[in-house]
Amino acid sequence: MTMDIAPPLPKRHRIKFPPADAHRLAQDEVFFHLVEDGEPVKLRFHDYAEIYKRPGLYEQLFYDRLKCSSPKKVGELLQRALQTACEPFTELRVLDLGAGNGIMGEELKSRGVARLVGADLIPEAREAAHRDRPEVYDDYYVEDFTQLSSETRERLGEWHFDCLTCVAALGFGDIPPRAFFNAMKMIRTDGWLAFNIKSSFLDASDQAGFSRFIRELIFSEYLDVYHLELYRHRLSMEGTQLFYYALVGRMTSSIPDDFLVRHLIEG
Ligand SMILES: C[S@@+](CC[C@H](N)C(=O)[O-])C[C@H]1O[C@@H](n2cnc3c(N)ncnc32)[C@H](O)[C@@H]1O
Repeated sequence: MTMDIAPPLPKRHRIKFPPADAHRLAQDEVFFHLVEDGEPVKLRFHDYAEIYKRPGLYEQLFYDRLKCSSPKKVGELLQRALQTACEPFTELRVLDLGAGNGIMGEELKSRGVARLVGADLIPEAREAAHRDRPEVYDDYYVEDFTQLSSETRERLGEWHFDCLTCVAALGFGDIPPRAFFNAMKMIRTDGWLAFNIKSSFLDASDQAGFSRFIRELIFSEYLDVYHLELYRHRLSMEGTQLFYYALVGRMTSSIPDDFLVRHLIEG
């Protein structure tokens, strides 16, 4: 006789939001309190290391409470783009930049990619991914992609990536344009890009480096856009809807090394 044993329920955290976002904090400065042993601990949304150290906190905060939908949306659009191109999703070899504790990785894995490698700036992200989703990544690099050593480039090159994903990790003090550009250079010249970005990036008035770089890329001969969809990324702490674009495109040829510098400086 076999018995089904239910997996243990993840620990629930006691999260308290402050009365109001009185100071209209930037998205990376927003904070909340976590009650631990009866004491409130103040954490910013971008205190990733502290958040990842606590199993289930990232999921409870961003996915349960603030209803983040981005990994699913970007995963869906990537799969649809591959269908349009009549290419098998199951052969994709993906580099997931800003992988965190592996939620995007889990999405890609469930859709059946061939290889999946995570990368993040902080060791706590890799530790959390290995702890919470040990079956997801074939490898996981803790690296600063703004300054990759030639040895790391060589090791990354061995994976022969044909897809770069980057979800909920661009802008707002997260991944800088240089890191994203260097990751793009690790992808095959006809490879796929799938990421999300805040909705204002298409406004010419948004002069943030990343927005300018992505605008230039979209209108360049180096990328064919398959999908550009406005959707609700998540809720803010006040319950307002934060809209982002999900973008899936395919690179068409090798992008010149000076593309980033030219467009960041010339705007
Ligand atoms: C909001 S989390 C997103 C995690 C995951 N992609 C998801 O969708 O749940 C942003 C991640 O970007 C990482 N990050 C920030 N700056 C980075 C950089 N320069 N290089 C690589 N990762 C970075 C952070 O450490 C964090 O794990």
